[in-house]
Formats: sequence, C-alpha cells, structure tokens
Amino acid sequence: MSNKGADLDDVLVVHGGTPLEGEVQVRGAKNLVSKAMVAALLGTSSSTLKSVPRISDVDIVTGLLRVHGVEVELNGDTLYMDPSHVESAGTEEINVHAGSSRIPILFCGPLLHRLGKAFIPDLGGCNIGGRPIDYHIEALRKFGAVVDKTDKGMHLSAPQRLKGIQYELDYPSVGATEQILLTAVLAEGTTELRNAAIEPEIIDLICVLQQMGAIIQVHTNRVIEIVGVDELHGYSHRAVPDRIEAASWASAALATGGNVFVKGARQADMMTFLNVFRSIGGAYEVDDDPIEGGIRFWHPGGDLSPVALETNVHPGLMTDWQQPIVVALTQANGLSIMHETVYESRFGYTSELSQMGANIELYSQCLGGSHCRWGRRNFLHSAVIAGPTKLHGTDIQIPDLRAGFSHLIAALAAEGTSRIYGVDKFITRGYEDFETKLRGLGAHIVRPGTEEE
Ligand code: EPZ
Repeated sequence: MSNKGADLDDVLVVHGGTPLEGEVQVRGAKNLVSKAMVAALLGTSSSTLKSVPRISDVDIVTGLLRVHGVEVELNGDTLYMDPSHVESAGTEEINVHAGSSRIPILFCGPLLHRLGKAFIPDLGGCNIGGRPIDYHIEALRKFGAVVDKTDKGMHLSAPQRLKGIQYELDYPSVGATEQILLTAVLAEGTTELRNAAIEPEIIDLICVLQQMGAIIQVHTNRVIEIVGVDELHGYSHRAVPDRIEAASWASAALATGGNVFVKGARQADMMTFLNVFRSIGGAYEVDDDPIEGGIRFWHPGGDLSPVALETNVHPGLMTDWQQPIVVALTQANGLSIMHETVYESRFGYTSELSQMGANIELYSQCLGGSHCRWGRRNFLHSAVIAGPTKLHGTDIQIPDLRAGFSHLIAALAAEGTSRIYGVDKFITRGYEDFETKLRGLGAHIVRPGTEEE
C-alpha cells in the first residue's frame, strides 16, 4: 500500500485467523435514520426517533438540522427533534461540512416548504460510481422549484407553493424516491411516482411520514401516490433495523468460520440475503422475539459452495451486501460470479482482496445474469471469484464505507497481520461501536499506541 494520503493515526491493526464468535446488536438502519431525521424538519411539532445508532452520519445530520434551528438531543438511543424554530432561524444554506454524506440533498423539499429557498453544497458520498442527481433536479423543477446549479452547489427557490407532479423514474433510485416523498407530502395536490424504489427503509420512511399526517399509498408495480396536505406534525417511531450491518456480521461469521448472533436483525428485510447465505453453505436460525430476537449466523463446517449472483433494487440482492458476500465467496470451493447492476464502479475494493491472495477477475460484460445498464460501456461491473484461497494480512487504505468493512472482514479471515487505514473516517459512518463489537466477538484488533499493542 502507498501511504500517500493516508492518515497514519487512523489505523486499526488486525491479527487475523480467529473465528468470530458471540453476539452483536444492530440498531436502526443508517439509511432510514438519516432520512427520518430530515423528515422531522417537515413537522410543526417535536419528533422522537428510537433505536438510533451512534454513527457519524447521524452526527452530520444532527449538525445540518441544528443549523436550521432544529433542537436535537440524543438520549441513549432515542433522538428528540424540535423543529418549531426553523422559520425564526431562517437559514436556507447548509454550511456544515457534511463529509462524504449525501443526505444534504434531501433537505431541498423540506427547506423549500418551510423557508421558500435552500442552498445545497456539492455532495459527497462513497466513491462507487458517477452518482448523478439528475432525477432529483428534474423532479424538483417539475414541483415548481427554481433550481440554479453553480460550481459550488445548488440554489433553489419556490416562488409559490410547490405543486404535485406525475413523474416516472428511469431507474428506481432510493434517493430520488425519498426526495419526491419528502417534497410531495406538503405540495399542493396529488403526486404520482412511477418506477419508485420500495426498499424497506423507504417503506419505513413512508410510515414516519404517515404518522406525521401524510397521505401516501403504495400501489402495485412500484407506483406511489402522495396526496399533499397543508401541515404535518411530529412523529414517534422506532427505526427499522440495519440490514446492511446485519449482513456484514453474517458474512464475517462465514468468512472466518465463526458463529455470530446478530441481535435485532429481522428476517423479513433480509430474505434475499438469507437465501444467498444458505446457498453458499452458511447456516442461520431466526429468533423472532420482538425484543431479544435476531438471527444467528454460522459456518457449519465443510466446503462453501460457489454461486452466481447479481445485485438489484429491492427485493433483489442489495448492492451494499455485495462486498461482504464477495469476501465470503473467496472461501467457496469453485467459481462464483457477482454481477453488480446498481452502481457502475463498485468493485474497486477487490484489488486489495487480490493483494491478500484472493483470485478475483473483473469484466465489463454482464456475466451470469440479465443485461444491465452498464453492459457494453466498459465499466468493470462483473466479478469472477475463484476459491477457496488462503488470505494473508496486508496494509490497506480503505476507499469507502462498505468496501472498508469488507476489507476488515478479509483481514479478520486472513492469516497474519493487516493494518487498515481510514477506519475512523469511513467505518464509523455506518457501523456503531464496531471496535467494541469486534473485541466482543474475539477478534484480535489493536490501536497502535495503546497499551495492548
Ligand atoms: C442509497 O444511495 C444508499 N445511501 C446507498 O447506500 C445504497 O447503496 C443505494 O441507495 C442503493 O440501495 C443512502 O441511503 C444514504 P440510488 P442513493 O439513488 O440513494 C442512479 C451506503 O453505504 N441515479 O438508489 O444515492 C445512481 O447513479 C450507501 O449505505 C441516477 O442515475 O442510491 C445509481 O446507479 C452507499 N440519477 C442508481 O441510480 C439520480 O438522480 C441507484 O442509486 C439518482 C440516482
């Protein structure tokens, strides 16, 4: 690894080769919690969000809400948000450093409704493809917003109350669906959104909005109908559990030959992952107790089987499950295929896996499944993984959140020592207390400079 650009203090030393065993708890999904926090801005009274994880994306959105006059307080895992002073704060500009979060763009609709204007700086986000925002801008313009793009960001204004729209997404984008929901709920008249994303986190956001007084109907065939109302109030809601974190621990159990009970994981949201986990040769058991329940994942011994998979929008295999599954597939006996159809460039992390001894080849063709948007466009979006391969420790500068956690899983499965740079910058964005959890599972990890070293 080149140390160029690496923060040398932001490093975790992993002594691999120990099966992970024990219990971890997952709280609310990062990709719902952050959106439900934005939704609180639409209400005239206070909201309460439960099962909030302590992750840096929550801190970022807390900062963004406070800038707009929302009082935010975290007590345990319950977040209180009081938006009654948004108009008097009058801040239309997001002037908090949002790091690599893409949440600022979802402030457009709520700020336009409350203040009539907004300024959204250029967005961050994981480096996994172009990540355009054309659907967001097109839909906001249709609602009646005036959007002026500059090289620093977007100035928006609503000369009059926004009006409901008929809109069809070219692709069922999660963020664009949320943008339209958060804008349509207070727009005048009805909005019909076709080809909408219907991920569990979106359905949970709809539950939040419904509690606030919104009228939203999810029809068959990805059609969502929103009848605009004049006012919304606060909500009290428990966030849907984080199915990406749950699948990450499950994959770590499989890759290290371990046994992990993921408390809080919910079967209904993970059905596609569970099918894949079982097809590879992993075992799991569901405990559906609403408080103490979760899913136990373990490696039952014997060979793991190769599989051909492709990522897709819900109810397909989540793109954020792809990376941890690929790490587990390096231990399967034969050739596996992973076709990534959501993002064009989400295999960058495999070069570090290859450096650790994995045998992974990337292809621009659509392998092992249907033709997707990235075929014939020179994007290396299909991977062939030949296993099983012995992984060995190495030094890694992690490139983004999900890739980073997968590098961590690979380092835990590998023989020898790895130094993982960038854990504070990236992994804390989406994994609460991951070091404590890893230690609880018996992982040998060390922060250089501490007594344990
Ligand atoms: C959300 O990103 C998640 N992020 C991602 O998780 C997740 O991978 C993704 O949904 C898919 O499930 C958050 O919820 C904060 P999209 P989002 O809009 O909303 C294209 C993580 O690590 N597109 O559904 O930004 C886009 O390029 C993150 O937790 C357009 O073309 O994803 C992509 O190919 C990483 N134009 C596809 O749609 C647009 O205007 C899906 O993106 C918008 C999107």
